[in-house]
Amino acid sequence: MDSEGRTTADTARNDPLVQLSLDRLRQRTSMKWRAYPADVLPLWVAEMDVPLAPAVVAALHEAIDLGDTGYPYGRAYAEALADFARERWHWDGLRVEDTAIVPDVMLGVVELLRLVTDPGDAVVVCSPVYPPFYAFVSHDGREIVEAPLGADLRIDLDTLEGAFVRARDDGRRGAAFLMSNPHNPTGVVHTREELRAVAELARAHGVRVVSDEIHGPLVLPGAAFTPFLSVPGAENGLAVTSASKAWNLAGLKAAVTFAGPEAAADLRRMPEEVSHGPSHLGIIAHTAALRSGRDWLDDLLTGLDANRRLLGRLVERHLPGVTYRRPEATYLAWLDCTALDLHDDRADGPGVVSDLAGPARMFHDRARVALSSGHVFGTGGAGCVRLNFATSPAVLREAVERMGRAIADL
Ligand SMILES: Cc1ncc(COP(=O)(O)O)c(C=O)c1O
Repeated sequence: MDSEGRTTADTARNDPLVQLSLDRLRQRTSMKWRAYPADVLPLWVAEMDVPLAPAVVAALHEAIDLGDTGYPYGRAYAEALADFARERWHWDGLRVEDTAIVPDVMLGVVELLRLVTDPGDAVVVCSPVYPPFYAFVSHDGREIVEAPLGADLRIDLDTLEGAFVRARDDGRRGAAFLMSNPHNPTGVVHTREELRAVAELARAHGVRVVSDEIHGPLVLPGAAFTPFLSVPGAENGLAVTSASKAWNLAGLKAAVTFAGPEAAADLRRMPEEVSHGPSHLGIIAHTAALRSGRDWLDDLLTGLDANRRLLGRLVERHLPGVTYRRPEATYLAWLDCTALDLHDDRADGPGVVSDLAGPARMFHDRARVALSSGHVFGTGGAGCVRLNFATSPAVLREAVERMGRAIADL
């Protein structure tokens, strides 16, 4: 019985992570399930092994039955997000009039960076970090400046300041800090104090902050999410989020950007055509998730919390030499495998998400488990792997046991 009187069986019944069999999951046609052959357990790209939340299913059915498949209109998504922020994050500063819809978070990031930087300007990122930060930003003509995380995997403020100074070198007009809040791949939740310090440093150096908050709803018990724009000093910040990660809706494209009071005029410069990108069905699904999918999210978080503890036990038992720091948020675990000495230095530097090198290559080849290779997350990533634990405990157990056997055979 847990503190709310639920038995283990009740918890399992509601846990979205135990609803689908491997056979059913393998029928999926999305990236997670099609990039590798059927003998590989895919614990890589950030998709979850869950059915849709019933509230999302109902909203989509209603739209289909009605033929409601035209263009999006109105601010329902932003209004749902503002309500969610009020209830979950105790923040009532998300002003619906200072929001703009975008097709997805990464295109939102690019559009926000375009508002505050020019081609050739620098964008600071805290590596290791979500690989598309490198790809999308450099593809748009901005130069990446890395500010590696500290040994505790948290933002190192001195390193960040050094990066801000470099970013403003050569008299460049603008510079931005693209932050993952919470941080992918480490699952670190930045504290209010850390975010305050980031805001202060950014102001002092004339750097604009763009906060990617896609993992905000996925903060696990024991930590609290702080929206960047809620901290003093962040009034000129910009942010973007989406229901896509927490409710597994990446295929139903939609996201929301929002601005602090001093950045509202910047956001109004976002070209109108950007708002044509999100799908109407996406907006319907994301809005339903935020409004009526909160109980489902709680059941998911309970399951993820159990999985992150299970993973700790499994790593301890089966993966000698691998270090696991329990994430505070997300369903991503960052496993430091540098002690295994499998680091392949030909593969240093950021890359495309499906690249495999070092330990991820070994686990793929010998354990038939697909993980994300640490080197694609930039400086500090080589020799590590990212494991997606949004799956059933049975699959998680099987994957780690296979990885353990592969290490034993090295
Ligand atoms: C930090 C971060 N930003 C953005 C994305 C991608 O979001 P979208 O599919 O909405 O572009 C992800 C996906 O895992 C992510 O982890």
